[in-house]
Amino acid sequence: MRSCRQLQKFPCASGNRRGETIAKPSFTIAISGKGGTGKTTLSSLLIRSLIEEGERPILAVDADPNANLHEALGVEVRETLGSMREEAFTKNIPPGMSRHDYIRYRFRQAIVESDGFDLLAMGRPEGSGCYCFANDLLSESMQQLGREYRFIVIDTEAGMEHISRGTIGRPDVLLIVSDPGARGLRTVIRIRAIAISLGLGEEKIHVVFNRFKTGAAQVDIGKQVPFAIIPEDPAVEAADLAAIPVAQIPPDSPARVAVRELAVKLAGMAERRET
Ligand SMILES: Nc1ncnc2c1ncn2[C@@H]1O[C@H](COP(=O)(O)OP(=O)(O)OP(=O)(O)O)[C@@H](O)[C@H]1O
Ligand SMILES: [Mg+2]
Repeated sequence: MRSCRQLQKFPCASGNRRGETIAKPSFTIAISGKGGTGKTTLSSLLIRSLIEEGERPILAVDADPNANLHEALGVEVRETLGSMREEAFTKNIPPGMSRHDYIRYRFRQAIVESDGFDLLAMGRPEGSGCYCFANDLLSESMQQLGREYRFIVIDTEAGMEHISRGTIGRPDVLLIVSDPGARGLRTVIRIRAIAISLGLGEEKIHVVFNRFKTGAAQVDIGKQVPFAIIPEDPAVEAADLAAIPVAQIPPDSPARVAVRELAVKLAGMAERRET
């Protein structure tokens, strides 16, 4: 049987495409919350900050079918997992390659490389197809990639789809983003309850207030204190209006400063997990 190294076109199954191998399992951060609360904004700023803290390489996963994390990060996506057809993974496997390696190879083709991070987008399934296959691909590939990145940051779609289906596995940290309004905070309670019922430890679930101005609605979110408070930031809005990737807002802009503090906190947690 030919090895993947002999099949020049197909990268081998050890180390990431940068040739780096991370000895320890990745620290996975999933970002969820009500629609429009700032999940994608937070994901992109967090990725930028982690890279600045030297916590690289990072795998950014856009698990929202309405993919736009790439725009927030300023990269282009060629192929999404949702566009991959199931048949291709049963009929078109090159001779001498296992299904496992073929999945890995196709998965790598869908990955966009950038400075300090790679990006993978779930996208939408083509035609009337369901997400089952794309979801299976994501969970299988995530397991395979577990040791290749320092951090995996997953921008999920609004709601709990990915966590309830187990697609993203059990993240090391689940950040639930909320604006300080009552509806966002009630969603926090619901998401938290589902995550706990699915076996995620309470200590792994944290609330992040975004677009914070003066205070939060009087909604009891239990013992949870905000893990981070990200202020309303005109630079975020200005980037959106000017169609500039939000990850490129000035380093001293308030949202970026707050997310950098969050990144340092998360890097510390990842460090402690390893010792
Ligand atoms: N801290 C902030 N200051 C100012 N505007 C913000 C801030 N965070 C997010 N926004 C704005 O809020 C809007 C929604 O943000 P974003 O797209 O990140 O939310 P989302 O939770 O990912 O939305 P969706 O549920 O649609 O995926 C955007 O217009 C963004 O520019
Ligand atoms: Mg989003």
